[in-house]
Amino acid sequence: MSKISVIGAGNVGASCAEYIGMKNFAAEVVLLDIKENFAEGKAMDLMQTSALNGFETRIIGSTNDYSKTAGSDVVVITSGIPRKPGMTREELIGINAGIVDQVMTSCLEHSPEAIFVIVSNPMDTMTYLAKSKSGLPKNRIIGMGGALDSARFRYFLSTALGVPAKEVEGMVIGGHGDKTMIPLTRLASYKGVPVSEFLSEEKLAEIKASTMVGGATLTGMLGTSAWYAPGAAVSDLVQSIVCDQKKMMPCCVSLEGEYGQEDICIGVPVVLGASGWEKIVELDLNDSEKSEFAASAEAVRTMNGAL
Ligand code: NAI
Ligand code: 2OP
Repeated sequence: MSKISVIGAGNVGASCAEYIGMKNFAAEVVLLDIKENFAEGKAMDLMQTSALNGFETRIIGSTNDYSKTAGSDVVVITSGIPRKPGMTREELIGINAGIVDQVMTSCLEHSPEAIFVIVSNPMDTMTYLAKSKSGLPKNRIIGMGGALDSARFRYFLSTALGVPAKEVEGMVIGGHGDKTMIPLTRLASYKGVPVSEFLSEEKLAEIKASTMVGGATLTGMLGTSAWYAPGAAVSDLVQSIVCDQKKMMPCCVSLEGEYGQEDICIGVPVVLGASGWEKIVELDLNDSEKSEFAASAEAVRTMNGAL
């Protein structure tokens, strides 16, 4: 059984702790926040659901005391500011870069062997920052974005098909930005059958566009960015690591020549197991997908330049 620390006990961090608890695969989750008593309150509230929901994971809270995170197998970083309506993820870079840097340093002091999952936006750039500053082996730094975007893509596809989302497969690669993500409509399938057998080109283009602005749509509706699907996506990713499930999902990882890119962290399909991301899966992209990926990488690289 494992220990997981979630830094930032806000909407996404708390949702992530809740789903990890509900899935019951970890011994302990430590929620940490800078706001006095906030993480402790969230942890207590969540623990009071354990009798009702029947999980055994112990969720504890901490106000900025990193000694409580000691010996974590996985650290999830959600600390930072979220988007407000009209803001892009990129606009968060100045504030969140300082927070992610400080949090990584503090966590590493107490959990030198941990695998890090970066959620704070702009996630591709924050993952690149975490990788460059920490000097950790590349397989221990994983940005979460594609797992969420793919879940949104599957939702939009399943709604159009009128079938359960779990029967639809689909992946989103590239950056985690409204203009940089690439929903792979050509490779999406319903029970193994290409979705293009059931949906017109126009409908698929519409689904692709809705997926790309999926986060912005919810930010407009909620007044802040979403948290249920982000929390669920993080818990899925973390479970694959701590339970060594070898699930394949798109994650933001450091590329060294794969997909024709290097010196960048960007979303590609990876296999997740006990040592973090264990393998990059190189898809046979067609020419138009390849050029979309190259353009996405260029945009992410430009954003990294702001660090
Ligand atoms: P939130 O505002 O609800 O929670 C953030 C928490 O971080 C707050 O409780 C705050 O006190 C805490 N915090 C700030 N500085 C800290 C520090 N130095 N140490 C510890 N805690 C600190 O925000 P929310 O909605 O939970 O979003 C968190 C981040 O995740 C945002 O940057 C958001 O854009 C990003 N996000 C990323 C997604 C992805 O797919 N990668 C999806 C959804 C959100
Ligand atoms: C989301 O996709 C804003 O990254 C956040 O919901």
